[in-house]
Amino acid sequence: MKKELTVLAVVVFFSLLTYWLVEPFAHGQMHKHVESEHFAYNDLPALTKTGDAAKGAETFMAGGCIGCHSVKSQGMETGMDPVSAAASFGVNPPDLSNAGALYDEKFLADLIRSFTVQAETWIRK
Ligand code: HEC
Repeated sequence: MKKELTVLAVVVFFSLLTYWLVEPFAHGQMHKHVESEHFAYNDLPALTKTGDAAKGAETFMAGGCIGCHSVKSQGMETGMDPVSAAASFGVNPPDLSNAGALYDEKFLADLIRSFTVQAETWIRK
């Protein structure tokens, strides 16, 4: 019994020593400190337009967003079930009920603008 306890103590000691010596070093090497962009999206233009929820809902339907995304808070359900969405995209398109709170408004505006510009060119072709 005494032998097992000694072995346990030695293992614990070396585990702690390795953790204490190596972990901070490995962390410093593998996750170097990077100055944050503060998520201000300074490369995107300032917003000049005000939102229009009714028009947004219309674009959401007409622009095809509803094909992949639901907005359950507004009673909008996508036709795609999670299993086929995951099989098609390798990831589930998120429910966008809280998108306004989650994403920066400049980021969201630019995402919608670039998506609808692309959609327009697809439709024109
Ligand atoms: C063909 C399916 C599809 C359509 C159509 C689609 N999306 Fe998405 N969208 C996705 C997927 C999949 C993700 C998740 C991407 C990820 O997590 O990597 C996503 C993510 C997002 C996100 C989260 C931000 C991000 O970059 O992960 C927002 C916001 C979004 N979509 C908005 C829209 C809007 C607005 C439209 C319509 C103009 C739209 N989507 C149309 C599949 C789609």
